[in-house]
Amino acid sequence: MKILAIVGGISKNSINKKLFELIKPLAPQDFEFSTFDIAGLPFFSQDLEDSLPETVANFRQQIINSNAVLFITPEYNRQIPGVLKNAIDWASRPTGKGAWMGKYAAILGASPGAIGAFGAQMQLKQLLSFLNMKVMWQPEIYFNFSANVKDGAMEDLSKKYFEKFLSAFKAFIEKNA
Ligand code: FNR
Repeated sequence: MKILAIVGGISKNSINKKLFELIKPLAPQDFEFSTFDIAGLPFFSQDLEDSLPETVANFRQQIINSNAVLFITPEYNRQIPGVLKNAIDWASRPTGKGAWMGKYAAILGASPGAIGAFGAQMQLKQLLSFLNMKVMWQPEIYFNFSANVKDGAMEDLSKKYFEKFLSAFKAFIEKNA
């Protein structure tokens, strides 16, 4: 299964980037991950749509080539970061022919505190559902990164939760395929 992982944090020390690295080994064996660096996308403007920038065309194609998308989002002011919304908007175009349509989606997110990107994850679920993605709503994980990652390693109970989450995503894709 080709799973495109999109991390909504673009800073070099992003905890959501770290989270993705930590959960990769916990995924089912047949998950083949690819990633796309959304920091390379221009700001969306309808002016750019007539002659689509190459990065945008590549992004669209990578989504189309994937079976499913795993979003790992930070929370900014109880919402998803603007850079992630920008990427989602790009691939939602043109209206009715967006690349997200019908793709499977799962959402994770981390904060340094107890809220675990809850607000951003809920908002993202609504947004992706609007785009007619097949969104897995449960199980869900709101990850407190500081409390559960020590010296760069994730504690065992969290590993179990992520393993369960990722195998549930596999089952969700297979059930609906
Ligand atoms: C934050 N942060 C934050 N955290 C949170 O749990 N809820 C929130 O609403 C916000 N709001 C917020 C706004 C802005 C503008 C910034 C810069 C930060 C803190 C945030 O969770 C923290 O910076 C994370 O490290 C961001 O994730 P990445 O980029 O490290 O993956």
